[in-house]
Amino acid sequence: MNIKWDGEKYTKSFAFVHRYGNSLIDMIDGEKLSVLDLGCGNGALTKELCNKGYDAVGMDASSELLDIARRNYPELTFIYGDAVSFETDKKYDVVFSNAVFHWIDKEKQPYMLSNVYKALKSGGQFIFEMGGYGNNVLIHGALKNEFEKNGKSYVMPFYFPTIGEYAALLENAGFLVRNAVLFDRMTELEGENGLYDWIRMFVKKPFEGIAGDMEESIINSAVAVLKNKLCKNGKWYSDYVRLRCKAVKP
Ligand code: BEZ
Repeated sequence: MNIKWDGEKYTKSFAFVHRYGNSLIDMIDGEKLSVLDLGCGNGALTKELCNKGYDAVGMDASSELLDIARRNYPELTFIYGDAVSFETDKKYDVVFSNAVFHWIDKEKQPYMLSNVYKALKSGGQFIFEMGGYGNNVLIHGALKNEFEKNGKSYVMPFYFPTIGEYAALLENAGFLVRNAVLFDRMTELEGENGLYDWIRMFVKKPFEGIAGDMEESIINSAVAVLKNKLCKNGKWYSDYVRLRCKAVKP
């Protein structure tokens, strides 16, 4: 997950990412528990967890985002760690994660799940949301078409599993799945160039090795094609599908 984030822009223009994470916190059973916020980004949800009385620590693999988290919330603890390779001395009551796991390749998911399992106390809760099967199908479909029109192939940079597929990974890692739901969440984007900005912020890998002018033209064409589906009354939307799960370490 070696992504170079524009942390300031992410924090300013993509605040909806953590806004929706608030209701995920409500899936935690119990009060005043210790929580590891895995892939905490700018720390907004770590702060929210602490506001709700949890003893939360944020972990992220981006030093840019950790800098912002530490600057915004100097009273909280943020530690460096990559979901795929982290280890913790302490065992937590809860591992929590919002909008992170779709960035991890399918082949690496078992490593991440094994690390989470080890980081939890027996009986601990693993609560997360990620992009699920069908997430951004319109956006990636339009980009793929435009890549192909330009003689390029589009390699999907994210992992968006079904409930069945992900539940099997969780069970293989030793978890008991208590709750899993896949649901649509059309999400309003900020600004008159909302979709253009979203693609620029989040879809970087497929453009590696592609000339800047071709990249610009592919994005603009995809945005134009998507206008009648994802722009309503001047507001742009992202066709998100979420996978939310709660699993426990028996
Ligand atoms: C998501 O939250 O589903 C997501 C965000 C950015 C890129 C891909 C997926």
